[in-house]
Amino acid sequence: PGSLVIAVDGTSGSGKSSASRGVADRLGLRYLDTGAMFRAMTWWLLREGVDVRDGVAVAAVAGRPRIESGTDPLAPTITVDGVDVSVEIRGDEVNAAVSPVSAVPEVRTRLLELQREAIGDGGIVVEGRDIGSVVWPQAEVKVYLSADPAARAQRRTAEQGGTDVASTEQSLLERDRIDSGRATAPLVMADGAVHVDSTHLTLEQVIDRLTELAHEAE
Ligand code: C5P
Repeated sequence: PGSLVIAVDGTSGSGKSSASRGVADRLGLRYLDTGAMFRAMTWWLLREGVDVRDGVAVAAVAGRPRIESGTDPLAPTITVDGVDVSVEIRGDEVNAAVSPVSAVPEVRTRLLELQREAIGDGGIVVEGRDIGSVVWPQAEVKVYLSADPAARAQRRTAEQGGTDVASTEQSLLERDRIDSGRATAPLVMADGAVHVDSTHLTLEQVIDRLTELAHEAE
């Protein structure tokens, strides 16, 4: 599967990351987490003291941070100006600011370039919101992964070792609302995407399904 590209898009907390990493590992493919790139940009803006609700201010500096992603599915890394921020980008501050930042067209243009560069000759699973629709519409496999909000909130809360499922659900739904409603590259089901609803599936079953789709595409 040297040149294969698998695009995995979907709502927040639908299990995209675990499923994407799992299928990449199983098929010997690289893995790109584009959400981590938007999170890294957001982390940098917050650290620089930029008002993340001010699209003009964000646009003016979006070209500055050097964001680099490692593509090993077993140990994905993300650095900003050489500093590993894998842990910091999962915090509440970034969670709350990432969707408004991701709606700024200049941010998207900048990261789009990096994403296409990373995809290169393929052999990769790429997860995000607009991979099958905008970043790589020619992907051999396109998946739209979803799950009921309650299931997503349960999983995400457990993952983070927390207990407040209700507030996690609120935060997921707020990001979905902004991501689906924005003018530039909103979250949509791409043309030709296969819808996989993971509400009643185990992670293993989702990975099996993606593996099946990859084999069908060969
Ligand atoms: O996938 P993850 O939840 O880490 O993504 C964080 C945020 O990054 C999303 O809520 C969305 O605002 C943004 N994003 C995006 N386009 C992508 C991937 C992520 O706008 N391709």
